[in-house]
Amino acid sequence: MSVVSKGLEGIVAAETRLGEVKGAEGVLFYCGYDINELVKLTYEEVVHLLYYNKLPNKAELEALTSALRAERELPDGVIDFLKTAPKTAKPIDIMRTAVSMLGCYDQKRHDIEMSENLANAIRLIAQIGVIAAYFHRARQGLDLPPVRKDLSEAAHFLYLMTGEVPSKEAERTLDIAYILHAEHGFNASTFTARVVASTLSDMYSAISAAIGALKGPLHGGANEGVIHMLQEIGSLDKVDAWMADALAQKKKIMGIGHRVYKVLDPRAPHLREMAIKLTEQLGEAKWIQMSERIAQIMREQKGLNANVDFYSATVYYSLDIPTDLFTPVFAIARMSGWTAHVLEQWSENRLFRPLSEYVGKPYGQKVVPIEQR
Ligand SMILES: CC(C)(COP(=O)(O)OP(=O)(O)OC[C@H]1O[C@@H](n2cnc3c(N)ncnc32)[C@H](O)[C@@H]1OP(=O)(O)O)[C@@H](O)C(=O)NCCC(=O)NCCS
Repeated sequence: MSVVSKGLEGIVAAETRLGEVKGAEGVLFYCGYDINELVKLTYEEVVHLLYYNKLPNKAELEALTSALRAERELPDGVIDFLKTAPKTAKPIDIMRTAVSMLGCYDQKRHDIEMSENLANAIRLIAQIGVIAAYFHRARQGLDLPPVRKDLSEAAHFLYLMTGEVPSKEAERTLDIAYILHAEHGFNASTFTARVVASTLSDMYSAISAAIGALKGPLHGGANEGVIHMLQEIGSLDKVDAWMADALAQKKKIMGIGHRVYKVLDPRAPHLREMAIKLTEQLGEAKWIQMSERIAQIMREQKGLNANVDFYSATVYYSLDIPTDLFTPVFAIARMSGWTAHVLEQWSENRLFRPLSEYVGKPYGQKVVPIEQR
């Protein structure tokens, strides 16, 4: 009998040069660079690192930045969709559908050269934030400002969402959040993208499937769950009683625990630091105080630590990003990692086709005529 690893835990499904999560040590690196080094860069430099496996020099960064900024405009049909989609739809569903639509506007998407695939990847990074921001404006009945070419990826998203160029501090905060979320090995959504790519399907199918995987509350959807939990608890003095009740009911506490990290998620301290600073500036320190107490209870009572979603929720909240855009923001950042993995999959493709262990009725069942069943 073969060994079944539920959830593929501990299984190495492929090689990658992109990122590694060292769960026992709490270390994360992209292309050899520790996450604590990567936060000194800009998101665009990290995109270059993931696509070309090297940090860009000035000319290379300029070339990639110009390519990204030149591709921001969406096809009219996608804009029409964003304007006419149900205003009550979840932005993450809109995003998944809009990426799929982009595939319909790209007639060359099948059997294309690697350089075309890279161009598609760059276009997806350039357009994904525009999709989320435009839908958010359209659902409020606001106009859709034309895209601009003079803003970074992070600043452009905040600009389109609010209609105002963000402060340097807000831009840098989101930029760091993008860097921290860009890549994370074979997590569920990246693995989904690689499985789809391995059939030699196209980039848009792989990425829309990845967005579908990300939205689940056990994956990227957890960041929205964190803010809902904090709002439900309401104040610091209610945390202990709420947690005692939740743990007694065996509820999963969003933003806590991880399949691979058995110590603190190395992204969490960066987000925690930003969350402390931002909430203090806003005069709303209660959110971080509640978060700290929840994290302490989980550490002491369950031996579980905060993950990337725990503090990113408070960071996004402090940046005035609406709760239902938290997971889309994760998707915007992860677009670089997903597309880099799809390109890597195609550079050395082998179809993913695992086995399953059959545990159903014994072999040899005979068909009984329908009247006798
Ligand atoms: C991320 C996650 C899915 C990892 O799951 P996993 O590796 O399959 O771990 P398990 O669900 O098997 O959990 C192992 C044990 O820890 C407990 N546990 C794990 N995460 C928990 C959480 N967030 N709250 C409460 N208990 C938790 C489980 O109940 C289980 O306890 P048991 O052995 O008594 O049954 C899980 O920790 C989780 O659901 N976290 C909340 C969602 C989240 O933040 N996701 C974002 C991940 S980046």
